[in-house]
Amino acid sequence: MRSIVTVSLTCLALSACTSRPTPAPVGDPVEGQKVAYDLCSSCHAAGPAGESPNPKAPPLRTVLDRYPEDKLVRDLTDAVHISHLKMPQFFFGETHAADLVAYLKTIQSQP
Ligand code: HEC
Repeated sequence: MRSIVTVSLTCLALSACTSRPTPAPVGDPVEGQKVAYDLCSSCHAAGPAGESPNPKAPPLRTVLDRYPEDKLVRDLTDAVHISHLKMPQFFFGETHAADLVAYLKTIQSQP
């Protein structure tokens, strides 16, 4: 009896630790491009060139300089406010967040 209790407590503790999957899911950049154009391009330049429609929003091809990709996936997934100021919150699943970041990686401007 005692061992059953111990085992289930251990499972509970483990699942609490692993509920956020590491490593991040592998994203699909083609899907991510759609997400970027649908959700982000009203403010951010979402392609490999061009200015952002909203001058305060940095072109997405530069954001990974400041925002590590795994943190961005996590913040988008958890609908955390990305920036304290004017960024709206988004609610999309982990897959789309990973897709989006996979796409962003393809357009980052080289230093
Ligand atoms: C309604 C306009 C708007 C939309 C839509 C929008 N953003 Fe932003 N975003 C901004 C603004 C404005 C800033 C700069 C805020 C600041 O300087 O604090 C920003 C900043 C960012 C940053 C940079 C944060 C930093 O610290 O450098 C990231 C990353 C980002 N946005 C990602 C996205 C992604 C991904 C999407 C689409 C899912 C998106 N944004 C959609 C307005 C928007």
